[in-house]
Amino acid sequence: MLLDYLRKQAGLRGTKFMCREGGCGACIVTAATGPGETPRAVNSCLVSITSCQDWDITTIEKVGNRRDGYHPIQKTLANENGTQCGYCTPGWVMALYSLLKSKQNLTMLDIEKSFGSNICRCTGYRPILDAFKKFAT
Ligand code: FES
Ligand code: FES
Repeated sequence: MLLDYLRKQAGLRGTKFMCREGGCGACIVTAATGPGETPRAVNSCLVSITSCQDWDITTIEKVGNRRDGYHPIQKTLANENGTQCGYCTPGWVMALYSLLKSKQNLTMLDIEKSFGSNICRCTGYRPILDAFKKFAT
């Protein structure tokens, strides 16, 4: 699976996993599935690596990191206390990052509708939603 390739072969362990069956969102990456395709959120646990030829894949390491600086999504999530143990956080960041790449001028409703993609066992969701709504127009 793409998830295993990223973590084991590419050494990109920022992409996490819990369920391995498309239900938790911990493994989300952003992918344009061919030239000219709009980037979108992809559950990397569900995608065979053999399906990924010509895909342009972005993982959490490229979006923001300690060395190069954090992305505004990461900073806002931290500032709003939307991360506690942090295990689910890369998946949430990649879900919103993908949404922002796929659609300009996100509304509050867009963000609320997208919220079913990820699971967090710590925060109770409200701080994450408060952080994400700051990216609505
Ligand atoms: Fe849960 Fe992929 S590991 S959706
Ligand atoms: Fe712990 Fe989300 S912050 S699972």
